[in-house]
Amino acid sequence: MRKPLDPGSMIGASWTLKDLLGSGATSFVYRAVRRNGSEAALKIMHADLALDPVVAASFVKQGYLANQVRHSSVVGVFDDGVTPDGVPYLAMEVVHGTTLEHLLESGRVFTAEEAVRIAVDLLRALEALHAADLAHRNLNPREVLLTPGGEIKIIDFDSAKGKEPFTLAAASLPPPSLRPSYMPPDFARGVRLAGASADLWAVGAILFRMITGRAVNTGASESEKVLTAMLIPPPPVRDLAPDAPRWLVEIIDRALAPEPGERWADARSMRVALETRQAEHVERLRIKAPPIPPTASHDPHGLELGEAWEGAWESAWDRALRPAPRAPCPPPPRPEALVPPSWVPPTVESARPARRGSPRLYAALALIVAVAALGGLLWYLRTGRPRGGTSGPTLHVFLLELPA
Ligand SMILES: Nc1ncnc2c1ncn2[C@@H]1O[C@H](COP(=O)(O)OP(=O)(O)O)[C@@H](O)[C@H]1O
Ligand SMILES: [Mg+2]
Repeated sequence: MRKPLDPGSMIGASWTLKDLLGSGATSFVYRAVRRNGSEAALKIMHADLALDPVVAASFVKQGYLANQVRHSSVVGVFDDGVTPDGVPYLAMEVVHGTTLEHLLESGRVFTAEEAVRIAVDLLRALEALHAADLAHRNLNPREVLLTPGGEIKIIDFDSAKGKEPFTLAAASLPPPSLRPSYMPPDFARGVRLAGASADLWAVGAILFRMITGRAVNTGASESEKVLTAMLIPPPPVRDLAPDAPRWLVEIIDRALAPEPGERWADARSMRVALETRQAEHVERLRIKAPPIPPTASHDPHGLELGEAWEGAWESAWDRALRPAPRAPCPPPPRPEALVPPSWVPPTVESARPARRGSPRLYAALALIVAVAALGGLLWYLRTGRPRGGTSGPTLHVFLLELPA
């Protein structure tokens, strides 16, 4: 049974442990303060793992892989050392925040916008990693820290690899921290593939989790999850999150496509797709309230303009109502007395504004009314004025004088 060290423990002459920040399959991570007052996150390897000198050496080597890129979203390692018991540790910047895993486990629901922002930041960091021929290969919500300022930080390069391909099957022992819930099928099957592809799949799986609330590869145990990863294609996002924007669903489905050739080619193309489609979506929301239409009389091409605008109104509403909101639109506030007992809240369909008549129809109606009014006036003038010296016709007189 592994036990964390107590707060106040000294690591060599320099470091005093303050509190436990977290733990993983390889280590405990503490906030520690140096003699000179500076702060660090000390990642101290589990003592039982450190008994193997090869594993202990690879712990330090893996940690320093993060330093191959200098990126604000990648937590670098600034020092290493050995505890008095001979256990290796790494010293890193302390990230004041929480893991994405913790937020998800505590029931935090992410809006599509938030999920996209996190994915975009992850992909930016991956662009830098992959450009340096480095792949994280175990990207999952436990290795993503979120700061209160909205930054994301990728940690834990235990499973990272450089240029050479690496597979679970090829590894001498499966790294225990690999999370099959976020593992692509080809990786689980042991197909030799470049790690960058696994990272992109993992971003798709993280998005999947944020949008649907569940992991892609499920199972009662870790090995069952590996089997799921190998054999069962991810369920379509649309089935689990029917309200998610269609464009986002398509991007996630593509990231998780069973065939590697059908997935995003690289981090940049996936990021650009997310940013572009989201910007289009925001633009569509912006035109939800269309402008006041120009009237036919103000424009020589009024009728055509009017019809074109009417089309715009229709499509703006169509867009505003698609995808259907979670609940039907609430009825407009009305005084109780005015609401007939049979009144039922409008559904989304019935809440749509009635289709407007065309300007041509309005013109025809106006003409009919004008002709009727003129006819009435002529008839009145022809049938004579009221007798009896009244100063003008009243409605009463007018009705009395109707011909028999
Ligand atoms: N630099 C850091 N700042 C703050 N917390 C950290 C930092 N690094 C790790 N942690 C915490 O420690 C946990 C374990 O770290 P990790 O590097 O993933 O260890 P392992 O390799 O054992 O999985 C993380 O999930 C996180 O909660
Ligand atoms: Mg970890």
